[in-house]
Amino acid sequence: MKNIFFFAALWYNSPMEENILTTENALSRLPGPLLAWYRQSARDLPWRHTADPYRIWVSEIMLQQTRVAAVLGYYARFLEAFPTVEALAAAPQDRLMKLWEGLGYYSRARNLQKAAKIVAERGGFPGTYEGLLALPGIGEYTAGAVASAAFGLREAAVDGNVLRVAARMTDCHDDVAAPGTKRAVRERLRAMMPEAEADVRIFNQAVMELGATVCVPNGPPKCGECPVRDLCLGRARGTAESLPVKAAKRARRAEEKTVFLLLRDGRIALRRRPDTGLLAGLWEFPNAEGALDEAEAAEAVRAWGLEPGAWRKKLTAKHIFTHVEWRMTGYALEAAGEGPEEFLWADQAGLEARAVPSAFARYYAEARRLLEEER
Ligand code: ADE
Repeated sequence: MKNIFFFAALWYNSPMEENILTTENALSRLPGPLLAWYRQSARDLPWRHTADPYRIWVSEIMLQQTRVAAVLGYYARFLEAFPTVEALAAAPQDRLMKLWEGLGYYSRARNLQKAAKIVAERGGFPGTYEGLLALPGIGEYTAGAVASAAFGLREAAVDGNVLRVAARMTDCHDDVAAPGTKRAVRERLRAMMPEAEADVRIFNQAVMELGATVCVPNGPPKCGECPVRDLCLGRARGTAESLPVKAAKRARRAEEKTVFLLLRDGRIALRRRPDTGLLAGLWEFPNAEGALDEAEAAEAVRAWGLEPGAWRKKLTAKHIFTHVEWRMTGYALEAAGEGPEEFLWADQAGLEARAVPSAFARYYAEARRLLEEER
C-alpha cells in the first residue's frame, strides 16, 4: 500500500496547515475519535466482556468467514460445553464436531483442539505474538487479535474489514488480496497503535467494528455515521465506494456427485469421511462421483454389496464451498444386505448424535423424515 507511506497533500493551496489532509496525518489522528466512537456505539458482543485469551481465541476462530449473528449461539454452547482450554483439550472428537455442526470450515475445530492440547500441556497460552502464531490454526490475523485484546500487546489484526477501512481512509488502489498489501497495512497500523493498554485492547476491534457496521462492504459506506469521515481521503476524493480494489477470484470448480439415503430396517447408512481433506472426519451419507441415473445408481449400490429395493425419492441439491461447488443428485431407497464395514447403520438418535456437515442439509432433513416415518 504505497501511498500510505507518501505524504500526499490533498488540498494543494490550502492556507491553513490543519486543513491539509494527508495519509499520514489522517491515520495518526484516527485513534482518538475511533476509540471514543467504539466505547459509545460498538455492538455489545460476549467476547468483548473478557480478557481471557481462551474465550477471545475461540471467538476469533469462529468469526473467521462467519457472520457475528451466526456465531453467537455456537459460541455460547461451545463455552458451556468446554469452559476452559483444558476441557476443550480433553473433549471427545464427536462431541466437538457436533457442537461445530453447521458452522462450516471444520478444520477450524480440529485445529482448535490441537492447539488446546498444546496450551493445556504447557500450562497456559503463550503471551507473545510469535508464541501465539506458532499454534495450529493461528495465523497473523488471529495472533494479532488475541495478542492485543487478551494481552494488551501492540499488534495489529488485519482482516477484510480492516483492509477495506485502510484502503478507503488512505485512498489506496493497491490490490488488497496481495500479501504485500496486507503486510503494509499491518505494519502501518502497528506503528499507530495507541499507548494506553486499555486502548490497545480495543483498537483492532474498533477498526473492525467500523468496517463491519459503518464502512460496509457491498454498497455505499455510511459516511454520514462515520466518526472519522473528516479524516478519510476516500471520502474527500469520492473514491471510497469503489474501494478496496480486489483481484478477481479464481473460478470455483464444480463437482457432480450422487448421494445415497440407504434405508434398512429403520436405519440409515452413514460413513465417516477420510481424516484429511474437505470436511475431514465428519459423517456423511454414502456417495459416489458423478450425476448417476437410476440404473447407474443401482450399480453403485450393488458395488457396496447391497441389493437395491424400493426407490423412495430423488432429490437434488447444491452446496458452495470456497473453492468447490458440489452439485448433488440424491436417491432414497431401501437396501438389503450387509454393506461394507465402514457403513454405520444409524437410527434416528444415532443420526442426530453425529456431526453431518450442512453440505448435506437437504439429505439430512430427508433422512430424519424417512426415519420418523419408519418408527
Ligand atoms: N470479526 C472478527 N473478529 C471480530 C470481533 N472480535 N468482533 C466482531 N466481529 C469480528
